Amino acid sequence: MSDHDPMVELSAGLAAIAAEYEAALASAVDEHALRTANGRFVGPQGSLTLLMKRMPELPGDRRKEFGQQGNALKQAITGAFDEHLLRIAQAIRQAELTGPALDVSLPARARPVGRLHPITRIQDELLDIFTSLGFEVADGPDIDFHENCFDKLGFPKDHPATDMQDTFFVSQRDRGDAATTLLRTHTSTIQVREMSRRKPPLAIVAPGAVYRRDDDATHSPMFHQIEAFVVDTDVTFADLKGVLQLFAQRLFHKDITVRVRPSYFPFVEPGGEVDFGCVFCRAWEGDAARTAACRVCKGSGWVEVLGCGMIHPVVFENVGYDPKEVSGFALGMGMDRLAMLKYGIPNIKLLYENDVRFLSAF
Ligand code: DAH
Repeated sequence: MSDHDPMVELSAGLAAIAAEYEAALASAVDEHALRTANGRFVGPQGSLTLLMKRMPELPGDRRKEFGQQGNALKQAITGAFDEHLLRIAQAIRQAELTGPALDVSLPARARPVGRLHPITRIQDELLDIFTSLGFEVADGPDIDFHENCFDKLGFPKDHPATDMQDTFFVSQRDRGDAATTLLRTHTSTIQVREMSRRKPPLAIVAPGAVYRRDDDATHSPMFHQIEAFVVDTDVTFADLKGVLQLFAQRLFHKDITVRVRPSYFPFVEPGGEVDFGCVFCRAWEGDAARTAACRVCKGSGWVEVLGCGMIHPVVFENVGYDPKEVSGFALGMGMDRLAMLKYGIPNIKLLYENDVRFLSAF
């Protein structure tokens, strides 16, 4: 008999593993430590797993005995593992039950509540007013053709609005004005778009973002307008004035005063600018001292709100209507300015800074 008996060596290995396992168990204080320790013995590379793989070293008649010893140890380890895991869980539960109480009366953590942006709110109000008067809502692209923004609205070729200084051009690539694309400078583009694809009668309102190379306390390079126009037979300036009056009353006050001053826009004739009685000093109430001290209207009693007029015959011709058969009015205004007037916002920049202290105040 050789002095090296593999059965003795492997059995001794089992005994050593049993002792080591007991020690490892005793020092595992939480579930993670316990599972890690367990893996060192019975995991795929664990010491017991590797030892059992050495079975072929034994003579055939000893293998069964070793296999039984190994399995018995593995079962003992599994049993001890389960028991220890249970003890850890119980200890955690016990600590919860005897530890400091959870105070369910503490106030809950406040969740910030979102709200509509002032531009969205004014847009909703304006669309409510115009749709209640029978206007349909239309939309158009922010990037449009030179043609829709200027040419078909009767702007002469050298009009300053078409200047690089005032307009953001997207591409010019020498394709001629008609194909040039730009960020629309006003929502009057929708007049051209809707009239070109539809026949009168039309009563349309169209809100949207517009862009100009302008940047100061009262101008932002991106702002918002809303356009409204009506085309039918026999539309008169009186219809325009009636809509303006109703609109001002519904948006601001039933007694508000409205005046139209002559002004020039290439796509209307006659054209006008519309002032509302100042909503800050409520100029229509006739308190002269209050109006004199008003910072918003600077004592004049009027604030400028929009541009309007009777749609120019050239525009009708450009969209394929006969100006002898149809007539119409159009108006356009800045929604930012209306929001500032309605909600008392002093600086247009506040609308675009996304400062929650401002946004949550309105
Ligand atoms: N598009 C003009 C602007 O941006 C505003 C305007 C004036 C619109 C007169 C109209 C109008 O429809 O008739 O300044």
